[in-house]
Amino acid sequence: MRMRFKPYAGPELAACPFHMNDATQYRGHWRETFARPEQPLHLELGCGKGGFLSRLASRHPEINYIGVDITDKVLILAKRNIERVYAEKGLAIDNVKTLAHDIERIPTLLDVPDRVERIYINFCNPWNKKANHKKHRLTHTRQLLLYRPFLVENAEVWFKCDDEDLFNDTLRYLPQAGFTVTWQTRDLHANEPAWNIRTEHEQMFTEMGIPTKALIARMDAPPVAAPGTGSPR
Ligand SMILES: C[S@@+](CC[C@H](N)C(=O)[O-])C[C@H]1O[C@@H](n2cnc3c(N)ncnc32)[C@H](O)[C@@H]1O
Repeated sequence: MRMRFKPYAGPELAACPFHMNDATQYRGHWRETFARPEQPLHLELGCGKGGFLSRLASRHPEINYIGVDITDKVLILAKRNIERVYAEKGLAIDNVKTLAHDIERIPTLLDVPDRVERIYINFCNPWNKKANHKKHRLTHTRQLLLYRPFLVENAEVWFKCDDEDLFNDTLRYLPQAGFTVTWQTRDLHANEPAWNIRTEHEQMFTEMGIPTKALIARMDAPPVAAPGTGSPR
C-alpha cells in the first residue's frame, strides 16, 4: 500500500513536544530527556503508525519509550495515535518520544550511556528478493551488532513477523551477534499471551490467515579477552 504525501506532517511534528526533531543531538543523553530519567528505556524500531507503541507506553508509565521510524508519513499517524490513546486514559504524555531516523545509521542516534534495556522490532521489511538485500533487515547480524553498544547486559530483543524466511534467518542472525533466543513461537495467536499488543501489520496478516511468528532474545556478555593476548576469544 503506497503512503500519500502528507504536507502537514512536517510542521505538525515540528510543533509536537514528544516528537524529537534533530534527534542526534540527544545521543548519549536520551534518559535525561524524560520526566523520570531513572526508568528503564525501551525502543521500538520501525514503529510505523504507532498503534503498538501508543498502547504499550500508555500501559507502562514506569518505562520510558522511544519509537523510531524513517518517514514522517507514518510518524504523523503515530503522533496522533499517541495523543488519542493517552487522552482516552487521562494520562500525561511523559514516557514516550518519537523520532525520524534511519535505523541502519543507529550509532549516530544512541550511545553507551543511553543503556537501553529492550528493543521491539515488529514486522520489519523482510528484504528477501535478493540475498544482498537481506543486510537491510533490522534483525540482520550486521544490524544487531550496531545495537549492542547502547544495550545493557541481558537486554532483550522482542521480535514479531509474518515472514517464514525472515523468522528462520533471524534465529540464525541472533546467536551470530551474541544473543540467545529464550522463547519463540510460530503461532503467537494460538495461545496469545496477555502481554501481546497486535500491531497494524499483525492485524493485517492475521486477517489474511498468516500466523504471527515471535521470539524473545537476550544479549549475552561480550567475549572476554584471553589473558595476555589482548584479542577476543
Ligand atoms: C512493514 S512496516 C511495520 C510497521 C509496524 N511495526 C507494524 O508492525 O505494523 C515497517 C516499518 O519500518 C520502517 N522502516 C523500515 N526500514 C527502516 C529503517 N532503515 N529505518 C527506520 N525505519 C525503517 C518503515 O518506514 C515502516 O514504517
